[in-house]
Amino acid sequence: MLVIEPRFVDRERELETLRELASYGSPLPIYLYGPEGCGKTRLLREFIKRVHGVTIYIDALERRDPETAIVLNPVIEEVRKFVREVALQAIGPLGTYLADRITLIVEKIAEKVSIEGRSLIVIVDDITRAIGLDRVEWYVKWLYELIGKLHRRYSPKSILIVATTSEGKSLDLVMRHTYTVVKLIWNLPREPFYELVQELKPPNLNLREELWRVTGGNPRALIEIAHVHRWDIGSWLNTLERRLTKVLTTIRSRNLENELMKAIEDPDTVHTEATPRTEQLQQILTEENLLIYKYVTTLHNTEVPSDLELGIGKYYAWQIPAYRDILKKLLIQR
Ligand SMILES: Nc1ncnc2c1ncn2[C@@H]1O[C@H](COP(=O)(O)OP(=O)(O)O)[C@@H](O)[C@H]1O
Ligand SMILES: [Mg+2]
Repeated sequence: MLVIEPRFVDRERELETLRELASYGSPLPIYLYGPEGCGKTRLLREFIKRVHGVTIYIDALERRDPETAIVLNPVIEEVRKFVREVALQAIGPLGTYLADRITLIVEKIAEKVSIEGRSLIVIVDDITRAIGLDRVEWYVKWLYELIGKLHRRYSPKSILIVATTSEGKSLDLVMRHTYTVVKLIWNLPREPFYELVQELKPPNLNLREELWRVTGGNPRALIEIAHVHRWDIGSWLNTLERRLTKVLTTIRSRNLENELMKAIEDPDTVHTEATPRTEQLQQILTEENLLIYKYVTTLHNTEVPSDLELGIGKYYAWQIPAYRDILKKLLIQR
């Protein structure tokens, strides 16, 4: 299915913050995390189009396609050639291979253009899923050391390294160290979300409130409803229900239904009423990317406000409100 990316909406403050970070540099890599489909990749791809400097964007999850696995500005033919060659022989995903070879890529760039006195921006997208939880701590520390190394070797004006993930589980591992700054990015706010709805040309604009209520502003969910389910929200919910039924089996088998019911009413109960059982539930829901720890400031240093109607607490939130609604329905149905 060929789907054209919708026009980019909002994220002005995020872009502004990224521009500032790129211009002044950050001594620590930024570990950007947020719900699946909230727009991390899109934001960073839009950012590299707009920023001045030498930029390297690596899609760590890309398996084979050289043009998707790496985006360079300026385009350096030698690097593209290197990536094409690697793509032919690399064992394992191409993006992951490149994520491990940033030093080499910068070296090849520096042979062609001067990095001295310029901003150097390196983005490694979806790093955790690509390299695995067991390597993420090591990798983030390596990125931190890379900043110092690149400064010494190339004397750029500034360096910004951003790594992204939607794996909540990696957060515990990364947050216990001081060599990275963890930042949150959330689903779209209501007005920009409505703009995006309009952009996708729904059959009826009245749908937008319902779309907001079920997706909580998640652009991927919206696009899925529009393109895959042809605006049939019920059909989308039905697909989710099939996935969540399986998760519920796990929760039931551990006898965590009461804890789940509480977390459905208020996700913060896994923190405020923490017991070994809520902890177990929290881990299952986090691993399934249904619940997310959100007591982290956003890129532009604000907090995502609580909104219990959308399942957003102060500490934890449902990634998409529909997850919570469906789990509730399935629990009650029994
Ligand atoms: N601000 C935005 N404006 C328009 N479309 C967006 C925006 N943010 C995300 N999208 C679209 O939503 C989908 C999911 O976004 P993506 O960046 O892949 O999410 P993530 O990387 O967080 O999982 C993509 O199709 C993307 O183009
Ligand atoms: Mg992404």
